[in-house]
Amino acid sequence: MQRRPRRNRKSEAVRNMVEETQVNVNDLIFPLFLIEGQTQKIEVASMPGIYRFSIDLMLKEIEECMNLGIMSFDVFPAYPESKKDKIASESYNPDTFYLKALREIKKNFPELCLMSDVAMDPYSSDGHDGLVKGGKILNDETLEILARMSLAQADAGVDILGPSDMMDGRVGYIRELLDENGFTETSIMSYTAKYASAFYGPFRDALDSAPKFGDKKTYQMNPANSQEALIEADLDLEEGADFLMVKPALSYLDVIKLLKDNYPLPIAAYNVSGEYSMIKAASERGWLDYNRSMNEVLLSIKRAGAKIILSYFAKDFAKLKK
Ligand code: PBG
Repeated sequence: MQRRPRRNRKSEAVRNMVEETQVNVNDLIFPLFLIEGQTQKIEVASMPGIYRFSIDLMLKEIEECMNLGIMSFDVFPAYPESKKDKIASESYNPDTFYLKALREIKKNFPELCLMSDVAMDPYSSDGHDGLVKGGKILNDETLEILARMSLAQADAGVDILGPSDMMDGRVGYIRELLDENGFTETSIMSYTAKYASAFYGPFRDALDSAPKFGDKKTYQMNPANSQEALIEADLDLEEGADFLMVKPALSYLDVIKLLKDNYPLPIAAYNVSGEYSMIKAASERGWLDYNRSMNEVLLSIKRAGAKIILSYFAKDFAKLKK
């Protein structure tokens, strides 16, 4: 035998030397769920180990995570039904608890990187990411609402806006308005290729944000397609996005690779709620080893080409690395 690939696996020292990919805590963004009020911490039933926090306890959680080396957070608000309406007006109400919390987080931890979500669903009585009229999701009318929401979040001190709505033209629309208002330093991480996926189920439980009718297939992408990810990425690059995101991650590793090979921007991937919960559930039953599965999942996403990973595993991973 001339070639024996096993020689490069013969000891830990050799294996480590030839290892191509490593996940660092720096690569991770930790998504957090916010609720109104004080001293509240409620576990999400379908996401064991993940909580909805009131702002006071969220500040503590962030501090704990920062001590573990996590520097980036994406905060999602859970609104009661009574605060929702057709036009998501709560999303740009300057006194709303979400915007106040974002300000407070930035005030307490100016050095962290704070990300927010731009889409109507947490505030919409229809549970859709866009404006609904006659059973249809209106694109251009939605842009105006997204832009107002973006300005309010930028004004609250957010470092990176994450438009997750999948309306056409929103990155350019938001970019222009931000610049006109002096927010030239606020970044945009576009949800470039966001698929109409079953794996968002637990997230919609966490926020009570499931659509009240129909599904999201007229705006989120068909899981069968990868070519249109290239069109979305072209537009996002042209419209001024700073990062391109693929979501979910695990069933779309090929799409991550496709964007990584074709675009100069940093690629992010969202390791979504369902991907977290299935590993959590199987490991609670003793069917999978939690730490090893988590490591392998994060590694595979990075190996596919994502520099940045949004993941509910972030805190557990950081603890493991400590
Ligand atoms: C809302 C939004 C969703 C997620 C992030 N932003 C859900 C959806 O589009 O229905 C999902 C995140 C996850 O499942 O972890 N626009």
